[in-house]
Amino acid sequence: MKKMLAIALALCLMIPALTAFAADGKLVMGTNAAFPPYEYYDGDKIVGIDAEAAAAIAEKLGLELEIVDMDFSAIINAVASGKVDIGMAGMTVTDERLQSVNFSDSYATGVQVIIVKEDSPIASLDDLYAEGASYKIGVQEATTGDIYCTDDFGEDAVLKYKTGPDAVLALLSGKVDCVIIDNEPAKAFVADNEGLKILETAYAVEEYAIAIALDNVDLLEKINDALNELMEDGTLDAIVAKYISAK
Ligand code: ARG
Repeated sequence: MKKMLAIALALCLMIPALTAFAADGKLVMGTNAAFPPYEYYDGDKIVGIDAEAAAAIAEKLGLELEIVDMDFSAIINAVASGKVDIGMAGMTVTDERLQSVNFSDSYATGVQVIIVKEDSPIASLDDLYAEGASYKIGVQEATTGDIYCTDDFGEDAVLKYKTGPDAVLALLSGKVDCVIIDNEPAKAFVADNEGLKILETAYAVEEYAIAIALDNVDLLEKINDALNELMEDGTLDAIVAKYISAK
């Protein structure tokens, strides 16, 4: 009887250890792959800084990386519910998100910038706040750009799109007067489309990190260890340099 109890107890202790992270040798990453240079499609392959950094982390953990592309607005839930092991999507650490997930150490800084048409009357951030201004702002749904703009300028001023490129299309076709989005994707979108520019005044400065389920403390620690090794040995810098040319 005692022996059976001991075995039962041992089994109970083992189960959470086995399911605690990264089932079947895989590290599953949720992302939204319309966000160059962090994650985007090259043919049918998802590449970019996050994709390569995650692959390097997975390798350190002895796991195989699998990337799942989804709406940006779905990532936090997918992480919190265990559908994916990590969320890595140029994702900003916010207090609200910290209610639902843990974040790794930060691996990059992001800046929310303003994209306008070259001939736009909007010359700086101040113009958006000006008395009587009624500009329409395009954002990617559920991003910090969306959250901050909705707070600052109100629901009516903010048009939400599924992806950054969709918001940029709305700018090109005159549906919105500007797009507020992270600086590196903004540069990529402006480079890809004629007649756009980025304003010099930034809107917000943020930290990017990897989201992990609150109860997956074991994985959080492992990810942080791997991430810090990659930051210290220059691997992360090399990945960033590959995708972002030096200014
Ligand atoms: N940094 C912003 C945020 O966390 C935008 C990230 C969008 N990422 C993406 N892969 N589409 O809300």
